[in-house]
Amino acid sequence: MFQSKIAGIGYYVPKNVYTNNDLTRFMDTSDEWIQERTGIKERRYADRIGETTTTMGVEAAKIAIERANISKEDVDFIIFATLSPDYYFPGCAVLLQREMGMNEVGALDIRNQCSGFIYALSIADQFVKTGMYKNVLVVGSEKHSFALDFSTRGRAVSVIFGDGAGAVVVQPTTEADKGILSTHLHSDGAEAEKLAMYYPGASSGIWLDKMPEWPEQELGGLLMTKEMLEDGTAFPNMDGQAVFKKAVVKFPEVIHEALIKNNLKTSDINLLIPHQANLRISQFVQKTLGLSEDQVFNNIQKYGNTTAASIPIALCEAWEQGKIKDGDLVCLAAFGAGFTWGSALIRW
Ligand code: ACO
Repeated sequence: MFQSKIAGIGYYVPKNVYTNNDLTRFMDTSDEWIQERTGIKERRYADRIGETTTTMGVEAAKIAIERANISKEDVDFIIFATLSPDYYFPGCAVLLQREMGMNEVGALDIRNQCSGFIYALSIADQFVKTGMYKNVLVVGSEKHSFALDFSTRGRAVSVIFGDGAGAVVVQPTTEADKGILSTHLHSDGAEAEKLAMYYPGASSGIWLDKMPEWPEQELGGLLMTKEMLEDGTAFPNMDGQAVFKKAVVKFPEVIHEALIKNNLKTSDINLLIPHQANLRISQFVQKTLGLSEDQVFNNIQKYGNTTAASIPIALCEAWEQGKIKDGDLVCLAAFGAGFTWGSALIRW
């Protein structure tokens, strides 16, 4: 059995910066409200045309591949995590394979939202550990800006999210006690609709229940309708308080699970990189675990919540800033829609 490690890492964020004040042009909100509730000061939005979840993923992947000292021909498997794919199908992994001119390797899409990167990393880890693949490219990328409701009606959700991408190359390592020590994945679908985007989707029942006067349908035609856009059900739906309450329990739980599995303590963590959901959630988790300020990395202030991209972007920034050194214990943890949550413990 091999152990796997992160051999290269990269990120890409679009050039277009939108401050909280910029958002007041579209909706009734304020810098004060957004900063107080979420910690976010600004976020990036992709170009409306030409820049997609895939193209951002490609930019991050190129850097990760170069830093891993391999070429794109060496990549033998692609895993792409996103909730904002270019197409309903096929997924972004094959689009990235095409865009980068890669070999005809396996390409897998992961739909686990905020914990998508942890799930993807865990899958890469298993493939490398068994010896099946030697260079797995893992990408998390999101273009949220194309599907948010930027009117006052959608403000509780739209102010939180931003666009961007991060990527890593996972390889085998022979160095004892180095690399990905363990990963831990969980789910509880009981509250799936508390953080969800229903359409395009096959569950038109949710919308029909709201609109009993909707005439009986012929086959088809309900994937997305004009009415869904008009009444707002087409946009992401979030019960913010339910998400907050569950997140602040599940983050510490899954971090403890990883530490216990490896006979380690919270004081052994050099850097915790939580999914950048909301600065208040990260601060709550930090307090619950008794971690110091410099044991936790946050960059949500600059990028907002970039869902599947948030952990690889933060991991890469922390590494570039010299906050992760050889031998450090790095903990990644995420919680998000589903609900799903997970953690990964890495000896760098
Ligand atoms: N600007 C100004 N006012 C707003 C905004 C906004 N952007 N959004 C909502 N409001 C108003 C509401 O209309 C409401 O007004 P009212 O009292 O007159 O009705 C008031 O602010 C309070 O609204 P709430 O939704 O109750 O605000 P809350 O204090 O719950 O904060 C928030 C909302 C920030 C979403 C909070 O619930 C939260 O942090 N939840 C965690 C969810 C989260 O972080 N999600 C991230 C994505 S999921 C993930 O990554 C895990």
